Amino acid sequence: MGYTLAQKIIKQHLVSGDMTPGTEIGLKIDQTLTQDATGTMAYLQFEALGISRVKTEKSVAYIDHNTLQTGFENADDHRYIQTVAKKHGITFSRPGNGICHQLHLERFGKPGKTLIGSDSHTPTAGGIGMLAMGAGGLDVAVAMGGGAYYIPMPKMVKVRLNGRLRSWVSAKDIILEVLRLLTVKGGVGKIIEYGGEGISGLSVPQRATICNMGAELGASTSIFPSDDVTLAFLKAQNREADWVEILPDGDAKYDETIEINLCELEPLAAKPHMPDNVDTVKNIGPIKVDQVCIGSCTNSSLLDLMRVATILRGNKVHPNVSLSIAPGSKQVFTMIARNGALADLIAAGARILECACGPCIGMGQSPNSSGVSLRTFNRNFEGRSGTADAKVYLVSPETAAASAITGVLTDPRGLGSEPDIRLPETFLINDNMFELPADEETAKKLDVVRGPNIKPFPLNVALPESIEAKCLLKVGDNITTDHIMPAGSKILPYRSNIPKISTFCFVRCDPDFPERAQKEGKGIIVGGANYGQGSSREHAALAPLYLGVKAVVAKSFARIHYANLVNNGILPLIFQNPDDYDKIHFEDELALPYVHKEVEAGAQTVTLLNKTTGDAILTRCDISDRQRDMLLAGGLINYTKQQNA
Ligand code: F3S
Repeated sequence: MGYTLAQKIIKQHLVSGDMTPGTEIGLKIDQTLTQDATGTMAYLQFEALGISRVKTEKSVAYIDHNTLQTGFENADDHRYIQTVAKKHGITFSRPGNGICHQLHLERFGKPGKTLIGSDSHTPTAGGIGMLAMGAGGLDVAVAMGGGAYYIPMPKMVKVRLNGRLRSWVSAKDIILEVLRLLTVKGGVGKIIEYGGEGISGLSVPQRATICNMGAELGASTSIFPSDDVTLAFLKAQNREADWVEILPDGDAKYDETIEINLCELEPLAAKPHMPDNVDTVKNIGPIKVDQVCIGSCTNSSLLDLMRVATILRGNKVHPNVSLSIAPGSKQVFTMIARNGALADLIAAGARILECACGPCIGMGQSPNSSGVSLRTFNRNFEGRSGTADAKVYLVSPETAAASAITGVLTDPRGLGSEPDIRLPETFLINDNMFELPADEETAKKLDVVRGPNIKPFPLNVALPESIEAKCLLKVGDNITTDHIMPAGSKILPYRSNIPKISTFCFVRCDPDFPERAQKEGKGIIVGGANYGQGSSREHAALAPLYLGVKAVVAKSFARIHYANLVNNGILPLIFQNPDDYDKIHFEDELALPYVHKEVEAGAQTVTLLNKTTGDAILTRCDISDRQRDMLLAGGLINYTKQQNA
């Protein structure tokens, strides 16, 4: 039996496991990327590993998220990342150079290689034929140190694209159609591979748009073959040597196949507040629009902005609309400046933003209250724009530009004939906002700059023979990582400052929790079902670790948070009998008298004593052998250090 495209790359990089869907596999990682909001922690974790140079082929640290500098914190983080990168062999991308995924596609992504990034939209590089996945900062740190990346082996889904797109219908409409068909849960545990004759008409930036929003399907990643289209893109980036052809075998077997006829697609929009709440622009009708934002890692390529400029040329932005445009990279920005397209955007009345995530991460451009905002981005969750009651629609750049002129949601097919805009044969290449790392000898003498916002990283200790601690907090079902570690523009700048960010831990459930935990010095949390659902944020494990949390006992856990707890050496214990949840109360004195022995034996039974009531409660940990060793060592960093010793 032949292999799918993704299976071929997995097979070449497999260091453990046997590619049976659902079982754990370990992959060798060729490249890593970080952005600044997650990168500070990833580099603090890398430093904690005690490895002097990264062992990957290429690791890049991008600054694109927290580029607003209204206090010293973000600038401190940038300086720390710049100096830590220089010292340890990582390429640094200065703020203003662009958005990590757009830049990585342009300058570093390579077909057939593996990439993990501490950002959920890392699969964008699947557009160039990479196996690219979003991961936690600690996973990225370990991969930089030469360790493998572990995931459950995904199932394979083929999306066959037939025919060609009609005028004014674009790649964004393809992925919105996939989201409509599969929903935001449809990709969980799966890799989405695109194929069919329709892919030959899609350029690499268009393919990247589709892979980018595969993250919204919940997919492990998405990928396109590396073919002549890929070669043409790499040639235009002066990177022809990086090209290899990678196609699926003719007899590859897929777990699921979906057919989409491109010629039947029409402009689509994801309505508030979910990326899979998709309808046609025509059906939604001409709703009044207050704001249009064009950019983000989904739609900020040269091709996107050239199409937008063509629509805006000679027109005027509607007086009721605020139109902002953020080019995805310095390369895109320079090229539209040189070819006159930027002048067309400015003349029409667009507000030009720097090359960064900007409004997509809530750094400015929040819409007016109860306003309607059309965005070319990838997420439209309630409140993400910074305005709680705003209604965000996700659309293509073509629909966004047409609507910016009319002031209402507008189907771009009414614009007449579509101009033929193609990618240039050569891009304008100027890498002067990338800083290369110092050579090994020079690096030894370099200091890492740590401003007051850079605080040491909390490290757990090896699992003791027994644990005695109070029930510090008892919460109900469906506690999210947002409950545990809230986000928001006031808290985000403290991502590199665990002592400070910990003062916000659980405050939405119990404002006194941080102070009480710190005073107590250690504790156990009791939770209901689906504990730790939502965003993958590692800080929801790091802050409790800093506050002395030794174990969380719950009826069930969300998968990523469970892994984050294990990675940090916090025991995630599951009640054998969910009714035992009622046998523990706030501030009860608890004990895990045989915990070390029981975890060593596989943790299928971990005894929990409630010393206050006298109840003996049975719990367990569902862990692989590797995770067992990690818990015994006190987390992934200690475990990796032991492995490297
Ligand atoms: Fe940045 Fe938004 Fe993408 S925050 S990395 S542009 S999803």
